[in-house]
Amino acid sequence: MIPMNNDELVVLVRSVLDAPRPWEITQAGEPVLRQVAAPYDGQLPEALLHELLDAMRAHLPGVGVGLAAPQIGIPLALAVVEDVAEVPEDVAAARERTVQPLLELVNPVYTPLGPDRAVFYEGCLSVSGLAAVVSRARQVHLAAQDRNGKPYEQELTGWPARIVQHETDHLNGTLYLDTAETRSLTTVTNLQKYWAQSGPEVAAAELGFPLEG
Ligand code: NI
Repeated sequence: MIPMNNDELVVLVRSVLDAPRPWEITQAGEPVLRQVAAPYDGQLPEALLHELLDAMRAHLPGVGVGLAAPQIGIPLALAVVEDVAEVPEDVAAARERTVQPLLELVNPVYTPLGPDRAVFYEGCLSVSGLAAVVSRARQVHLAAQDRNGKPYEQELTGWPARIVQHETDHLNGTLYLDTAETRSLTTVTNLQKYWAQSGPEVAAAELGFPLEG
């Protein structure tokens, strides 16, 4: 993690909250994305933490379904997830994409439940313009805290499980590209042009990558 005392963190968070919106999201290559975020244990005044989490959620609509604090340059184990899942029914079904109400992830940890895997395209605000196929646990157990420090646990399946794994990985310095099928790498433009309708199976055959569970 980046050594930073509480005063420095408060100044940093204040400057992020005062920055023009929409935020410029940190991009791959930025050191903060590769460091293990510091566990949150009250480094910020409560009101500032709440303001930060509210602002992170406010960034999502029309942009993405999750945001981790390192993506706005803050090295703390905080993330938000919310998916209104406004996608065509067949797409939703293929991805097991269901509405995921807001989850505030403070110090999240996930554990795969069972051997089932789900294989699908994934993108990241910190890897702008690209997408790739990632195999992930289809079902996970999540343990985290809410904004008031209250622990909670939840089981997630399908797309919500994927988002939670993706955001939690960010807090451990991991990007989806680290475990993606690199031959599946595509620009978002080409994803829409060639693969969005047919799905990863056809892409695997045509682009030549294994489609492993
Ligand atoms: Ni991401």
